[in-house]
Amino acid sequence: MNQPSVLFVCLGNICRSPLAEAALRAEAIAAGLAISIDSAGTGGWHAGSPPDPRAIAEAERHGIDISHYRARQVQREDFQNFGHIYALDQQNLRDLRRIEPRRLLGRSPARLGLLMDLVPGRAGTAVIDPYGGTAEDFATTWDDVSAAARVIISRMT
Ligand code: 4NP
Repeated sequence: MNQPSVLFVCLGNICRSPLAEAALRAEAIAAGLAISIDSAGTGGWHAGSPPDPRAIAEAERHGIDISHYRARQVQREDFQNFGHIYALDQQNLRDLRRIEPRRLLGRSPARLGLLMDLVPGRAGTAVIDPYGGTAEDFATTWDDVSAAARVIISRMT
């Protein structure tokens, strides 16, 4: 499978990673690139739920409907199924490293990293969890994930 594939992972998969998924989908369409894109949460509490209404509203502000997205928990198979897995914050990255399967010869394991490491000047920083915040915090989330999405696309073109 040669198509690039990207998985975004946050805690609940209802706020940050769905917005990252939406931002990259929009940038991929704009660039005319076929990329397999998904998102997941390290936790499973929201599995099957749509994104947080504030995330849906933020995406809508950018002309994107994410109301049909459904949360799911990350699984070990994701490390085989995606070329790149990006953690939205450092705790998500630690949790992913804990569940990452041992690398087996002959497999092409996912490259795992912190999303904001992609963005110049933002290395080592988190996409801050907006769950307990305001609509403004969701706008900040959008700014962060769309900046990272543009870098992902620029590396593929
Ligand atoms: P997310 O935000 O990880 O960006 O989807 C959160 C959503 C739910 C919870 C925490 C963070 N929660 O504790 O339920």
